[in-house]
Amino acid sequence: MRVGFLSLGVCLPKRIMANDEWSRYVDTSDEWIRERTGIERRRIAGPEEGTATLAEGAARAALDDASLQAADLEEIILATDTPEVYSPDTAAIVQHGLGCREIPTYDLAGSGCAGFLQGVDIACSRVRTGRRNVLVIGVEVISRIMSWQDRNTCVLFGDAAAAAIVGPVNGAGEVLAVVAGTEGGKAGILGKEIGGTRRPFGPEHVASGEYNRLIMNGREVYKEAVTRMTAAAREVLDRAGKRVEDVTLFVPHQANLRILHSVAEHLQLPLERVYINVQDYGNTGSASVPLALWEARAKGRVRPGDLVLLTAFGAGFHWAAALIQY
Ligand code: ACO
Repeated sequence: MRVGFLSLGVCLPKRIMANDEWSRYVDTSDEWIRERTGIERRRIAGPEEGTATLAEGAARAALDDASLQAADLEEIILATDTPEVYSPDTAAIVQHGLGCREIPTYDLAGSGCAGFLQGVDIACSRVRTGRRNVLVIGVEVISRIMSWQDRNTCVLFGDAAAAAIVGPVNGAGEVLAVVAGTEGGKAGILGKEIGGTRRPFGPEHVASGEYNRLIMNGREVYKEAVTRMTAAAREVLDRAGKRVEDVTLFVPHQANLRILHSVAEHLQLPLERVYINVQDYGNTGSASVPLALWEARAKGRVRPGDLVLLTAFGAGFHWAAALIQY
């Protein structure tokens, strides 16, 4: 059976926040952010927009794109590090909001920017064992739970939701191969600790300002992101019996322009074949890869017959890659 993407959908917060605005909250500048990250602006969710509403918006757009109804969905996998509530999972809230049947739903929580491709990996196997129409969503509203006083991290991120419906395909959109991996030994380099059972949330964390702080060793993350995304891309090409030269468009996780350039250089892929939108959205975590793929398709950068390579890396550390034949 051929399995692949039946459709894509996106939902973006309305507010666009340019780099300059960050200098109101932290000691930074548009120049610093552009030079180090390539980011120029990002979306920030407003009071009416949340993880579940954005996820539902992306899901509805993906349903429209596939000419399907919510009742046609057979499973929902939602990847996020910024859930609507601590419990239950956001996927259950989205299932109800969409008006689905009583289908199984679950969140992939904590796998950061690799979450969407991990979800695609699982969805492909679910379809092979009999499900049709598995909705995979990547969504983050990180602006609401991160520290707006920590310049090391706050300038990097943006809010967004993007989704794909995975199911049996007749050629176009086929996932030729997908790979994923984890190295749990590096978990301490990137993450958020306060609020878990190891360090339950308490008033002392408000006093110390730790309650919403993201722990991040930027340089280590940078190195690992380049190494792992490059390796995952090579592995998925090998698995499908394809070469780098066969790739029409490379759509990597949009963390940082320098990371993207470096991965492309390691793969010896010319930049004309790399889709980049980090300048407009910043790092949108698990929404990043499907948002970039959706936008590339909307701009006519994905045509019938194209071979599209996706790769992502995130907290955990987790990584994944997929190869799509359009
Ligand atoms: N504005 C101004 N100065 C800043 C800012 C800021 N927003 N943030 C940090 N700095 C300062 C630091 O305080 C430090 O100052 P110091 O040297 O006086 O101590 C200096 O800039 C840091 O400089 P470098 O370490 O040389 O910065 P670098 O070139 O490594 O860039 C960055 C930092 C952008 C975080 C980079 O390491 C990076 O992109 N790493 C990857 C991080 C990432 O992508 N995280 C997202 C989550 S994971 C993922 O999606 C893959």
